[in-house]
Amino acid sequence: MHKPGPPNDDATELTGLIERHRSAERPRVFTMLDRDWDLLPEVYAPVYATSTSLFTRWLRYPSGGSMLEVGCGAGLTAVTAALAGCRSVTALDINPAAVDNTRLNAERHGVADRVRVLHSDMFEALDDTDAFDLIFWNSNFVEAPADAAYPSELARAFFDPGYDSHERYLAGAGRHLRPGGRLYLGFSDLRNRTRLDEIAARRQYRIDTSAHEQRSTATTTVEFQLLEFTPLQPGTSGQPVS
Ligand SMILES: C[S@@+](CC[C@H](N)C(=O)[O-])C[C@H]1O[C@@H](n2cnc3c(N)ncnc32)[C@H](O)[C@@H]1O
Repeated sequence: MHKPGPPNDDATELTGLIERHRSAERPRVFTMLDRDWDLLPEVYAPVYATSTSLFTRWLRYPSGGSMLEVGCGAGLTAVTAALAGCRSVTALDINPAAVDNTRLNAERHGVADRVRVLHSDMFEALDDTDAFDLIFWNSNFVEAPADAAYPSELARAFFDPGYDSHERYLAGAGRHLRPGGRLYLGFSDLRNRTRLDEIAARRQYRIDTSAHEQRSTATTTVEFQLLEFTPLQPGTSGQPVS
C-alpha cells in the first residue's frame, strides 16, 4: 500500500515506539486533551502514541449511558467517557499496572465512583449480565506468530499472537452489548486488516470506518481508523457462521 510522506518503514516505527516507552525520559505525568494524567511504568504511554488522543476524541460517548473500555491502559479514554457524561464506565486490562494506572486517573479526575476498573483477560472478569451501550478497544496492533510468548506486560499493548485477542474481542463483545449498543475498535494500517476482515466475516459483522486520519512521523505515515462493527443480522453478533 502506498503511503505518501516520509519514508515508509513500519518496523522502524514500531521499534522506536517501544524504545520510547522504555526511555528514561518517560514522564510520570503528562498532559493530553487539556488534562493531566498519571503514567505508571510498563503501561502503554498515550504521550508517545497518536492513537489514544484520536480515538478518545472521535468516540461518541452515550450521555447518561454505560461504556466498557477493553485494554484501558492509563485510563485516558475511560475517564474521559465518565467526564463526558457516561453514567457508568467499566475499564479493564490484562496488565495489572494498567489497572492501577486507570484507578489513579479516575481518582485524579474525581470520577472513581463512576469508573469501575477490573483486572481481566478480555471479558473474563465480567458477569454474564453486564451489558453496555458502548464497547471499545484500542487494540494491540501487531500480529505476532501464534506461539509467541509475551516478554513483558508492556508488550501486551503492541503484539497479539495469532490475533487471538482480536478474535476473542469480536467473539465476546456481542454478549455484553445492550440492544442498540455500539461496538468499536481502534485500528490502523500498521495492523492486519485482512485478518480482521476474516474474523469479522466469520463472526457475522459488517465493518464501517467511523473516522480516520493520517499522521506522519519521521519514519512513516500511519492511517488511524475508528471501526464500527454491526451484526449482519440482528441477534447474530459474535456467533460464528454455522
Ligand atoms: C494499544 S494499548 C491501548 C491502551 C489505552 N486504551 C490507550 O489507548 O492508551 C492496548 C491495551 O490492551 C491491553 N490488552 C491486550 N490484550 C488484552 C486482553 N487479552 N485483555 C485485556 N486487555 C488487553 C494492553 O495491556 C494495553 O493496555
